[in-house]
Amino acid sequence: MHDPEALRSQHAARFGAQPAIFAAPGRVNLIGEHTDYAEGFVMPAAIDFATLAAISPRQDGKIVLYSENYGEERIFEADALPAARNGHWSDYPLGVFAIFAGEGHRIPPLSLSLWGDVPPGSGLSSSAALEVATAVALQSLLGIQYPGPVLARLCQRSENEFVGSSCGIMDQFISANGARDHALLLDCRDLSYKLAPIPEDVALVIANTMVKHEVTGTEYTSRRAQVEEAAAVIARHRPEVRFLRDANPEDLQKWGSEMSPEALKRARHVITENIRTVAAAQALVQNDTRTLGRLMAEAHRSYSQDFEASCAEADTMVEIAQKLPGLIGARLTGGGFGGCTVNLVHADQAKPFAAALGEQYAQATGITPQIHICHASDGAHRIE
Ligand code: GLA
Repeated sequence: MHDPEALRSQHAARFGAQPAIFAAPGRVNLIGEHTDYAEGFVMPAAIDFATLAAISPRQDGKIVLYSENYGEERIFEADALPAARNGHWSDYPLGVFAIFAGEGHRIPPLSLSLWGDVPPGSGLSSSAALEVATAVALQSLLGIQYPGPVLARLCQRSENEFVGSSCGIMDQFISANGARDHALLLDCRDLSYKLAPIPEDVALVIANTMVKHEVTGTEYTSRRAQVEEAAAVIARHRPEVRFLRDANPEDLQKWGSEMSPEALKRARHVITENIRTVAAAQALVQNDTRTLGRLMAEAHRSYSQDFEASCAEADTMVEIAQKLPGLIGARLTGGGFGGCTVNLVHADQAKPFAAALGEQYAQATGITPQIHICHASDGAHRIE
């Protein structure tokens, strides 16, 4: 777990300056997958895994980045920052600098130490945590503070335009705007959102299949293209449909035959997922765990069968969970093709649930999973 004091003293020893420290969390998405870039609904929560950023000004014109995780330093001239990615971890902070520079800010010479415990490639948004942590740290040096939704958009742009992954807004949004003990229902069209309290007797159990996923990977990009293809077919008949957010199940009945079979299935997932996500938020607010669990089960089936974004291990993890006492709902979370499942569990049964899930998954797959009982956390903030 994170220790800001350790980062503070390591930064001070390495750079000879007292830093300001910031944290930005990873996230788990309760429901609403591959709906964000279709301007639909998502309902993530920030979690208690995070990236910490320690920042201090420099006088020598340089930007020095240090990753505690990689034990590696990168040095740049502040007035000659790279304009393109390198395929290196430093792309994430450099992308944020590039976007801020594009917004008219002069990036000052600085030292930035980064440390994180969001497991990479596990569908918990380690990249968004890194971008948002960098952005809030940079803001403090610049003496500015963008509203959370604007900051999230800048970080998403750094990933789209600099890092080169075609992700939507969800991950950066929740990392910037999450709230302790709450999930957040986000309308990705206008970035309006509502917080939904997670009842005290409901635990968030995150189960890592240990199968790695890649958002920059070809599968994510091809799914997104199929979703856009389906929207374009519907738009031929109903020009007001710009994104699948605007479409409904009847559109698929009428014009699905004009789509490729893949696009039709992907669209069915996205259109029904939007409906499920809004219903799930209502169920959470009403503490209607039965409805919430049913919606999560349907969402997983749709993600696995129509969106074909699951994998054998994740399906196994969900199937095991569904037979265990205490489960409210389980599904694969995040970009897909591996990573973690999210399990809502009656809190008094969370520990035995987690133990049994880990044991039975290991028996079934031969893989030892990592299972965490998490808490919904605050979005990015300064640590005093
Ligand atoms: C990744 C992307 C998000 C979102 C999810 C799928 O996490 O970064 O924008 O599209 O996949 O819901």
